[in-house]
Amino acid sequence: MKSPSHSRRRFLKTSLAAGGALAFGSAHAQDADPGSRQATGIKVGEVSDTAALVWMRLTAEAARRAQGYTPKAGDQTLPKDVRPDQVRYACPGMEGRVRLRYALREDLAGAVATAWQEVTGKTDYTHQFALTDLRPGTTYYYSAETAGRAAAPQHKPLLGRFRTAPAADQYADVTFTALSCTGFRDLDHPDGYHMFPAMARLNPHFYVHTGDNVYYDNDDFNANNIATARLHWQRMHGQPRQIAFHLRTAGYWLKDDHDTLANDCWPGQVVKRMLPLTFNDGLAIYREQVPLSRLPYRTFRWGRGLQIWLMEGRDFRSPNTLADGPKKTIWGGEQKEWLFKSLLASSADFKILISPTPIVGPDRGKGKNDNHSNDAFRTEGNEIRAFFRKHLTERFLVINGDRHWQYHSVHPETGLHEFCTGAGSDAHAGGSPGLNKKFHRFHRVLGGFLSVSIRREKDRNTLRVKHHDVMGKELYEHVWRG
Ligand SMILES: [Fe+2]
Repeated sequence: MKSPSHSRRRFLKTSLAAGGALAFGSAHAQDADPGSRQATGIKVGEVSDTAALVWMRLTAEAARRAQGYTPKAGDQTLPKDVRPDQVRYACPGMEGRVRLRYALREDLAGAVATAWQEVTGKTDYTHQFALTDLRPGTTYYYSAETAGRAAAPQHKPLLGRFRTAPAADQYADVTFTALSCTGFRDLDHPDGYHMFPAMARLNPHFYVHTGDNVYYDNDDFNANNIATARLHWQRMHGQPRQIAFHLRTAGYWLKDDHDTLANDCWPGQVVKRMLPLTFNDGLAIYREQVPLSRLPYRTFRWGRGLQIWLMEGRDFRSPNTLADGPKKTIWGGEQKEWLFKSLLASSADFKILISPTPIVGPDRGKGKNDNHSNDAFRTEGNEIRAFFRKHLTERFLVINGDRHWQYHSVHPETGLHEFCTGAGSDAHAGGSPGLNKKFHRFHRVLGGFLSVSIRREKDRNTLRVKHHDVMGKELYEHVWRG
């Protein structure tokens, strides 16, 4: 286990006084203002051309707890005499009030303020503000503010920014990044994954976490109730590098098996070792911990150039153990109908489907019965790959997470392109069946992330998909010229 050895408290500084350019522009974690009370940061999500959802959480302290019980390799669950808030890197919540002020100017002149909102333990001290009537293709600056209950004094705010999508009829260059599988015990730096500052250097408009944000069932301790599941999120989003990144970059969050309940899980499945934590608890906690629209499958347009589809792979699936056939599904009928209709209706130059799990693969064969590249879901896999081939042009591709190796595959029968982000760190990589020349154009069993950019080059829109290592180094590129 690669447990962080470094115990120095690192805070995140986000005060305007420190210099707006530094606060918003630096790729590195900074010290927090000790007067702030948002140790799990801010998450801006579901950004469209006119709307966004801003997630806030009020915490008892300014930063994660630097000291505390450190789970040991082999701890199945936390010892009975250890409370979740006594664990190292816990960020316990606190009752009080939160609000958001946001503006077009960095000095927040003319800011719009939401009403103060009370937060309690019922929602793990979180609240999500739905911002509407925003301007397309615009940078918004915000001050995320917290206060005690009633007339208690206000704390120091966190300051951040995000960018709205360009309108569907406007062309604009767009860059985004995608990653997956952030296992806590395989962290490659005590302040947070190397990937976060590496991605920040690319100044992306947004990023996508394709799932396995946390590993309830397979980390240095297993969650087995709501409090310990929430602790997994505190440890992930209380890291200074993640906080710094989320204050300058909006995200879209997908979930997969480990951040729902357990490996390869499906609705209604009872996983004894996780009890009393259930699949439905997992759905509710996910919705509480990341900004998410009413429906878990959704699509976002980023100007004329780009539209992304974010797929839900757990909520609607058949049991993995069912015999394959036309009724067996991962996406469910409604999601599939929505996907097919919205793909056909889209006029975006490039269409990118982002799926937690693979559609092309290849996966390792034995024992895997969980995704569209496995025989266990062959019928639906064939159906969707055939649909893509029949109805979509070359300018359609799939990005996926879940598999802990990086690849670019082209499906031999349908020509469908798939790019896998790879795992969150080198230590978390592994499991590949090896290079398969029938599929792979690129294959690497180490951690890293993807970047995707659309640029106008000589009156043509050019799409570049790149694999990066965890430090951001470019390893491989595939280019489409529109
Ligand atoms: Fe994973």
